[in-house]
Amino acid sequence: MDLISIFDLSHAELKAILEKAAELKKKRREGVKTSTDLEGKTLALIFEKPSTRTRVSFEVAMRELGGKVLSLNWNELQLGRGERVQETAKVLSSYVDAVMIRAYRHATVEEFAHYASIPVINGLTDFEHPCQTLADLMTIQEYKRQLAGVNVAWFGDGNNVCNSLIGGAALTRMNMRVACPKGYEPDEGIVERAKNMGCEVLITANAEEAAIDTDVLYTDVWVSMGDEAEREQRMTDLQIYQLNEDLVKRAKKDAILMHCMPVHIGEEMTEVVMNSVNSVIFEQAENRLHAQKALLLHLLFSTKNPLL
Ligand code: CP
Ligand code: NVA
Repeated sequence: MDLISIFDLSHAELKAILEKAAELKKKRREGVKTSTDLEGKTLALIFEKPSTRTRVSFEVAMRELGGKVLSLNWNELQLGRGERVQETAKVLSSYVDAVMIRAYRHATVEEFAHYASIPVINGLTDFEHPCQTLADLMTIQEYKRQLAGVNVAWFGDGNNVCNSLIGGAALTRMNMRVACPKGYEPDEGIVERAKNMGCEVLITANAEEAAIDTDVLYTDVWVSMGDEAEREQRMTDLQIYQLNEDLVKRAKKDAILMHCMPVHIGEEMTEVVMNSVNSVIFEQAENRLHAQKALLLHLLFSTKNPLL
């Protein structure tokens, strides 16, 4: 099994991953030693783009579960000199037990998964960031004590993180509002799929409309990795979607403020909002570790080594 899109998980699998993640977090906080269920397993991490949280949380997750990690930059591999994805996928399948890839194009990760015979995890593409959504759902569950019926409002660019979050909302029966200018909407196919699953998704150009009485306010950078050439235009187009005190005032008093990080302070989120009591961004980042541990156990623990 792979995790390329958040929709690859059923409602039951997602629920089980979130429960396991919560259990692992509790144990780690209590200082209880994590099980070494992944002893003998190796995860390769391939990065075509930079990363702090994804790289470190996957590496620590694997180590704490008793496994090993190889962290590889695209250009250190023959991929950087034109070796095809498909041959790389076949070769790595004979060396390691799973691969996580962060790539520019979603199609690259899909192609890798198609040719690999081991689990492949999407560590962010231009289209989705499902590992982020696992941590986001875990965080919302912690603060709101439930997921079904929670109102989540997204501000700014309807990007990869937003697409996966909409999928996560559909799987957990949360309601989504996305406030963005024309041309920055989340993927139409994902929105349709979520709606067909019974999820309420409102797309509006009006940031205040999205913020009113919401339980969660979420934003992400205005210039994602790969969008740098559009920086100036994006700064202008997205300005009115900034998460600032005025916007936060319209939400519920106990609404949480989320950001997948890295934050571009003063652009999509003000420093005051980032450091306010309702901001949960560091908890959210920590939850990447616990959620990915649960994901790795889900994908790898049941895969028995045929030689044993
Ligand atoms: N949120 C996230 O994926 O962060 P990194 O780019 O640092 O991995
Ligand atoms: N949307 C951002 C997320 C970074 C974690 C990007 O793709 O760069």
